[in-house]
Amino acid sequence: MPKTLIVGVNGQLGRELHNLLRDSIAVSRDALDITNENATLEYIKANQPSSIVNCAAYTNVDFAENAGKEAAYAVNESGARNLANAAKVLDIPFIHISTDFVFNGDRSTPYSEDNETSPINVYGKSKLAGEIAALKAHKKQS
Ligand SMILES: NC(=O)c1ccc[n+]([C@@H]2O[C@H](COP(=O)([O-])OP(=O)(O)OC[C@H]3O[C@@H](n4cnc5c(N)ncnc54)[C@H](OP(=O)(O)O)[C@@H]3O)[C@@H](O)[C@H]2O)c1
Repeated sequence: MPKTLIVGVNGQLGRELHNLLRDSIAVSRDALDITNENATLEYIKANQPSSIVNCAAYTNVDFAENAGKEAAYAVNESGARNLANAAKVLDIPFIHISTDFVFNGDRSTPYSEDNETSPINVYGKSKLAGEIAALKAHKKQS
């Protein structure tokens, strides 16, 4: 029976989600590095999940500004694209997690998903790049 695959299970969100979705399967970076396009596709094909939830991310906001910039884009943009492409190949839904960092924080009222994005740091820009890449790669309609 196909199951939801949680990617990034050792992170804060991945761990909680895996605890909540008892019937899910989960993978950590040790078994799947999402920056590796071929390995990602092969892993997804081999495990045949019913959907993919991407809880993996490069989240060191301060380090991303300088030395971690390349790594931030590799995980947050390329990694998201690789997972979305794999989901597209299997024709399954891809669920990706956004962040408040895609906005600039100038708004005095709460943000909604439809508000204009305007990230002010590398972390936010890399996360937004991943969202755009994932939407371009695969938008599963349900
Ligand atoms: N936590 C928050 O307050 C918050 C708020 C808004 C949005 N979000 C979003 O929620 C999502 C999850 O955040 P989080 O706080 O749970 O992050 P986290 O605790 O830093 O966990 C991220 C996970 O991603 C894994 N990872 C990093 N690079 C990877 C790679 N190349 N391949 C596979 N896995 C990789 C990490 O593996 P290791 O364990 O090996 O390092 C880690 O387990 C992110 O998209 C983030 O933007 C979080």
